Amino acid sequence: MCGIIARVGETDDAVDELLVGLENLEYRGYDSAGLAVKNGSGPTVFKREGQISRLKDLLADEVPAGELGIGHTRWSTHGPPTDENAHPHTGCSERVAVVHNGIIENYESLRTELRQRGHEFESDTDTEVIPHLVEEHLASGATPEEAFRMTVRRLSGSYAVAMLVDESDAIYATRSGSPLVVGVRDGKYFLASDVPAFLDFTDEVIYLDDGDVVVVRPGKHEITNLEGRSVERQTKTVDWNPEDAGKGGYDHYMLKEIHEQPTSLRQTLRGRADPVTGDITLEDFPSGTFDGVRRVQLVACGTSYHAGLVGNQFLGSRGVPAQTFLASEYAVSPPPVDDSTLVVGVTQSGETADTLSALRRANAAGARTLAVTNVVGSTAARECDDALFIRAGPEIGVAATKTFSSQVVSLSLLGERIVRDTTGHRSDDVESVLSALSDLPDNVQRILDYTKAHRIAKRYRDSEAYFFIGRGSAFPVALEGALKFKEISYEHAEGFAAGELKHGPLALVTPTTPVFAVFNGRNDEKTLSNVKEVEARGAPVVAVASDENEAVAQYADDVLTIPDTHPDAAGVLANVQLQLLSYHAAELLDRPIDKPRNLAKSVTVE
Ligand code: AGP
Repeated sequence: MCGIIARVGETDDAVDELLVGLENLEYRGYDSAGLAVKNGSGPTVFKREGQISRLKDLLADEVPAGELGIGHTRWSTHGPPTDENAHPHTGCSERVAVVHNGIIENYESLRTELRQRGHEFESDTDTEVIPHLVEEHLASGATPEEAFRMTVRRLSGSYAVAMLVDESDAIYATRSGSPLVVGVRDGKYFLASDVPAFLDFTDEVIYLDDGDVVVVRPGKHEITNLEGRSVERQTKTVDWNPEDAGKGGYDHYMLKEIHEQPTSLRQTLRGRADPVTGDITLEDFPSGTFDGVRRVQLVACGTSYHAGLVGNQFLGSRGVPAQTFLASEYAVSPPPVDDSTLVVGVTQSGETADTLSALRRANAAGARTLAVTNVVGSTAARECDDALFIRAGPEIGVAATKTFSSQVVSLSLLGERIVRDTTGHRSDDVESVLSALSDLPDNVQRILDYTKAHRIAKRYRDSEAYFFIGRGSAFPVALEGALKFKEISYEHAEGFAAGELKHGPLALVTPTTPVFAVFNGRNDEKTLSNVKEVEARGAPVVAVASDENEAVAQYADDVLTIPDTHPDAAGVLANVQLQLLSYHAAELLDRPIDKPRNLAKSVTVE
């Protein structure tokens, strides 16, 4: 959940570039920030509790010079957000400085052992055992690289680590279970938790595998495994540019990414769906790819879980047995699988630890695995048998928006491919579904042009709680609407299956709890009867429905309209209105929309 960055080059402006990297990484954690720089002598550490702006204040008087440095932005797992617990961490002699993302599960036993050897610890973190262990090995005569390897072999858990040592002009790094990529440009190197961190400086990327150890010096890099044997890793060019990682003139990344959806959806659809012929072309999934698949299990977390729920409804309604599981639950109590089971991991970052461990369980149990992800080269994409990329472009705002829309579209196209291979025939309504999906970019633009979400957010601010309801594939959209609302506004919001209200949640409904009812053109009359139930309790109702749905307009106090379309596409449109509603509600409450408290963009620990 933390963000790490490192830089080595021939010019002594490492700190300037590290600070740019840290700002690009801040969505991964913002409890504290720090960096260490080397300029001839030992690593000099600067760190502060709080956001990167506080670290910049610390450096404001004089930016330290140096060719190589490491940096970190923290999401606390072990020890509260304090200066002491901020990274980088050093050992007793301060010859070694380390930044880390992940969790060292055996840190307590290592601490006890090191304390018995006279080491003293300054922080509560698991990470601090690393520099102390390295010091131990250096003291026994090991070279910095040997000391690094010997230390890494003692660690269990998940980690991406970068290390500076006073007597070396290199940076040493490795990964196991946490992401780490290398950026290269004209002999200068960056190491980071993800590509957007150094996109301002290079689009040349080397993806590392778990167990890789990389040593970078000005003009030179070496990748080996933990035993020291050299391994080959290709350099790839990513088709992202620095603007993608910028706010593009919007107040928040979230608003920018909501407005990017017409473009990101076109990218997701490009060359994949022909509404005239009903043809589906998924680059790595030709016809017959899924012959022999008898059931589909989708595993995911948060927003991706909601997209997965839409995906399994698409499959189920076309005769393919499918179920979506919360990845953290799947990892601890997996359902039966066999080699005719396809397990699809839905994960925009491709690095969510819960989803990775669910996929690893499925893999180990003999299932086929497939990652539906936004990040080429991510761990999920590399560990699964197959990967389908949703092509939404980098998403920086912690609240997932455009990736939900691209996930739903990708899962629908993948779903149709699976339907054909498993049932032997196309879906009856494939042309109209593909036509509706192809209309999504323009329809989303219409909503962005005419939405009155701001007015609705204002009208219902200061409500006691916010409820979202829907049926069928509108139910996951209700869940997603509630998740977005609570994660960025901090208000009490919940999503319910509309039919479930009368079995309990209706007790929560009062005149001060607005109910947002999502209509997708399927079972609307049933959802309308649930609207009448809440109205009878005096609750204001805001319908999210087609602009041609007169019945709904008659009953609702307000309507967030969407262009009329196929029910399998309506959910994406309704969700755009709910994204805007949440954004404006949070804005009215002056919340830190891109960095909501206690959350992080990519949750890399279980
Ligand atoms: C959604 O806004 C949140 N950021 C979070 O729930 C997220 O969807 C979840 O952590 C899954 O992330 P992933 O898609 O990268 O796996």
